[in-house]
Amino acid sequence: MLVAPSLLSADFGNLSRDVKAICDGGCDLIHIDVMDGHFVPNLTIGPPVVSAIADSTTKPLDIHLMVENNRFFVELFAPFKPEYISFHIEEEKHPHRLIQIIKEFGIKPAIALNPHSRVEDIEHLLPELDMVLIMSVNPGFGGQKFIENVVPKIQRLKKMIIEQNLNTLIEVDGGVSDKNIKVLADAGVDIVVSGSYIFKQDNITKAIESLK
Ligand code: DX5
Ligand code: ZN
Repeated sequence: MLVAPSLLSADFGNLSRDVKAICDGGCDLIHIDVMDGHFVPNLTIGPPVVSAIADSTTKPLDIHLMVENNRFFVELFAPFKPEYISFHIEEEKHPHRLIQIIKEFGIKPAIALNPHSRVEDIEHLLPELDMVLIMSVNPGFGGQKFIENVVPKIQRLKKMIIEQNLNTLIEVDGGVSDKNIKVLADAGVDIVVSGSYIFKQDNITKAIESLK
């Protein structure tokens, strides 16, 4: 299991300390939640902060856009060379075009699905995607409760990926902890995002290890 700590639960007053703690603690990716105050009722991180994070680590960045104008934000964050950019299907009229734009920047494209969105609606796009991000909370805030009924959806997605003989990764985001990691692993999840579970613990290395 790959672990992508979400910086949303970090101490923004000590961000460089917390970035170092997750990197030293063995994280595989750094998950960065970008919110615009429109798609979700919250505002988070913009280009200057992402630039500072990118300069301070060699770990791959995993940018999760929760915004209305996806293309604008893709172009804004592409210069920081993240490994992945995820955009929400609920907010994109032209997903195929946006996937190509992300690829042209040399970045791996991913589609994010809200808890109520159907994996069947993106089945035809799977060959174009490096990853699918399944939200297991409603996007906007850290520290929410895991929504159990996303598990059958993850199982259906895994089946589609196997049937199409693809390498598309499955990432789950929201309410992930040591309590539900096993059920997620069994369902075929490749990467978990975890914010509050990791950052509320005194020993961040042990928290990351417990998920792995
Ligand atoms: C929520 C974000 C998540 C969030 C996860 O909109 O996409 O990445 O920070 O935090 P926890 O693990 O606390 O649910
Ligand atoms: Zn996220």
